Amino acid sequence: MVFDDKNADQAQSLREKMSGVRNGLKVITLASGKGGVGKSSITVNLAIALAQLGIRVLVMDADFGLANIDVMLGVQTKHNLTHFLRGERRLDEIVHIGYDGVRFISGGSGMMELLRMNEGQLSKVMHGLTKLDMPIDYILCDAGAGINDNLISMILASSETIIVTTTEPTAILDAYALIKTIVKRDNLHPLHVIMNRAESKKEADHVLDGFSEVLAKHLQKEVNRLGHITLDPEVPRSIKRQTPIMISAPNTSFARDIRSIARELLELPPQKEPGNVFSRLFSGLRK
Ligand SMILES: Nc1ncnc2c1ncn2[C@@H]1O[C@H](COP(=O)(O)OP(=O)(O)OP(=O)(O)O)[C@@H](O)[C@H]1O
Ligand SMILES: [Mg+2]
Repeated sequence: MVFDDKNADQAQSLREKMSGVRNGLKVITLASGKGGVGKSSITVNLAIALAQLGIRVLVMDADFGLANIDVMLGVQTKHNLTHFLRGERRLDEIVHIGYDGVRFISGGSGMMELLRMNEGQLSKVMHGLTKLDMPIDYILCDAGAGINDNLISMILASSETIIVTTTEPTAILDAYALIKTIVKRDNLHPLHVIMNRAESKKEADHVLDGFSEVLAKHLQKEVNRLGHITLDPEVPRSIKRQTPIMISAPNTSFARDIRSIARELLELPPQKEPGNVFSRLFSGLRK
């Protein structure tokens, strides 16, 4: 992808439009480079975890044309971004309310016009988000896979970006390529990393250590390690059930990891998870 000065101007004008419009509103984009690493699963569940901590969240399905957040939430939305872009609905009319009060905007699916969204349209969407007359603290944008001009503009217009990767070298390489493109345009853009589908904390830490070292050495970029998420068979099950894990299986490892990432994002101290019945029983006996 060639990210030229025209793209930089586009990002700059988007950022100017979005900054300072709403005090305290944070726009966070989740992106990856490689597809299928868990962006949408993390976005949906992180939004619910943040809502459970009292944050008012809106999720925007920004995987334009291939959106599937509403499928994960098990809802059929009548109106989505296409209707907004065609001028048939206002932005506030395509905001739906889901679990724990999380608001969301569906990107719609299979719509070529969204895949070809132009600069003006992206600007219209991003600007519209910041003007929504709704109580919102955080907007989470679930971006599509790949690295393209619209994604880079959206990232640079956001307050911060979460790079999602797995421990596989192919995902790491694509995350590196994406970070390099971002840093080239704005080396101060705040970046977080989540290591998903890790076999263990040890594996995640090992890969994160190596990745951070390479980023520091070759790009002089420090990224904030938001944490890792272990491989959890409950994730595909929850997608099949069309109910997010935070709702259907809040005691699984995925849900626990997501809660700890939510706290890290808010810079809250880690929460002590209650032990299971047996550990509570035995700790009682030891006293
Ligand atoms: N921690 C995890 N443990 C087990 N499976 C996972 C985990 N995270 C994601 N998955 C699985 O990986 C697949 C891809 O997840 P998801 O759709 O969230 O990724 P994505 O990055 O949004 O993909 P795309 O780039 O296509 O939008 C799904 O089948 C999901 O069940
Ligand atoms: Mg996705």
